[in-house]
Amino acid sequence: MNHEQNIRLTQVGPGTAGGLLQRRFWQPIALAEEFDPALAPDMGGIEHPRLIKAVRALGQDFVLVKNHDGSWALLDRDCPHRGANLAFARYETGNYKNNSTPRSISAGEMPISLQKTAPTAIRCPFHGWAFETSGEQPGQCIDTPAEPSTSTLCQHIRQKTYPVQEKAGVVWAWLGETAPEPMPELDCFAAPASHSFAFKGMWQANWLQCFEVGMDPAHPSFLHRFLQDADLAETGSNAGGKQFRSAAAGAVEGERWPMTRVMRELHRPQLSAQAVGSNTAQGIRITALRALSEATTHVRITQAIFPHIFVIPLSETLTITQWHLPVDDGRTYWFSVFTSYDAPIHQAAMRAQRLPYTTLPHYHSQGGCAQRLGLFRRGASHTHLLGMGEDDINVHDQWAVESSGALQDRTREHLATSDKIIVLYRRWLQRAQEAAEKGAAPPSLPAMQTLNEAPGTVDGFAPKDQWEAWASEQLAAKRSKASWLKK
Ligand code: FES
Ligand SMILES: [Fe+2]
Repeated sequence: MNHEQNIRLTQVGPGTAGGLLQRRFWQPIALAEEFDPALAPDMGGIEHPRLIKAVRALGQDFVLVKNHDGSWALLDRDCPHRGANLAFARYETGNYKNNSTPRSISAGEMPISLQKTAPTAIRCPFHGWAFETSGEQPGQCIDTPAEPSTSTLCQHIRQKTYPVQEKAGVVWAWLGETAPEPMPELDCFAAPASHSFAFKGMWQANWLQCFEVGMDPAHPSFLHRFLQDADLAETGSNAGGKQFRSAAAGAVEGERWPMTRVMRELHRPQLSAQAVGSNTAQGIRITALRALSEATTHVRITQAIFPHIFVIPLSETLTITQWHLPVDDGRTYWFSVFTSYDAPIHQAAMRAQRLPYTTLPHYHSQGGCAQRLGLFRRGASHTHLLGMGEDDINVHDQWAVESSGALQDRTREHLATSDKIIVLYRRWLQRAQEAAEKGAAPPSLPAMQTLNEAPGTVDGFAPKDQWEAWASEQLAAKRSKASWLKK
């Protein structure tokens, strides 16, 4: 592709073809835990919480507010008076409309749990204008205290707000001009809180670069090549949320194989793609077959769902659904929702496992910084091909994503057989952007199958000539364990 095509394919700002397309989907804009004063270092603590946060998504700046009743408000961040940053606004409650001298809540007056009287508002600290964050007219200016007492100016000022909802531990926003679509019907949204865990991290690269790593079934054999396998007696079928450390489903001559061994020894996957979809989501089912013998093949099935979601198996009972929020053209937050089809998830342990690689409150992934400082790469590793540690494979993916620069120069690449899924997706993305410019929904790929009737995510050994039936059985068995799924 040429330079112009590369730019067009990857842009997300308002008015661009890619930006119009992204605004037709719910976007993850924050973790719910970022507004938990017990966990988040920037929320003011349990005594005096201040649940307001700056958010940037699709090249636009917003302020996200959690009201004391648990509801959310997302507003444009620039104050409509003279543009001050509303992420520094003060959260207030009180009866503004009948009182020309509204009551300002001082820090000492919270506990906010006692302040149940709507409306709630944020007040700009520059000249005191206040904007509703709940009620029927969120964003409405309800006070302009420097204006003459007879002024009706505020009645004509309304800050733009956006639909927001919380699901699966993530706060989702609809940033487009059209009416919000339903959320995609994915298993991760059906799971109860006890069987779900969400986390995020920032990578310093364009969203498509991040997503293309996730839909590339060839790279785990190299980028995540472990030269030694974990002891399956210790990790069992569930390695506590660590990718590729569990066993593949099934056995080879009675022996369980760690996924790391599968990836290492069977490194020439035969790839195929199939369109899948439902009323609420469309994607590509990606199948990677790794032949072991005449009779047996390894099967790994993952899904890439529009516009930037992949679903991959972590173990026989744990799945990751990962979004790639374009913060702007050069930065991306991945949002992972882990879903267990079997036992509840130990959220605190999963979080603790990831915190050493993350800097709060902005969830910057530390692998990238370490790479720039040369901290990880100290010489040939005896345990891993890349040599950037083994605990968190996200560090490896981050290296792959960021090492080609914030925007990979795709005019210089040479796509190969192992990139056929990426080629297919880019073509689909191009067509979807053209449709978005005309105000139309993304076109479907031909021959769509129902998203969840086709195998969702699977990883294991199968009879070579019956792997499709085997994969369907595997998925049915996995989903049958989940009491929370509609059967
Ligand atoms: S800039 Fe916000 S009140 Fe003046
Ligand atoms: Fe990876």
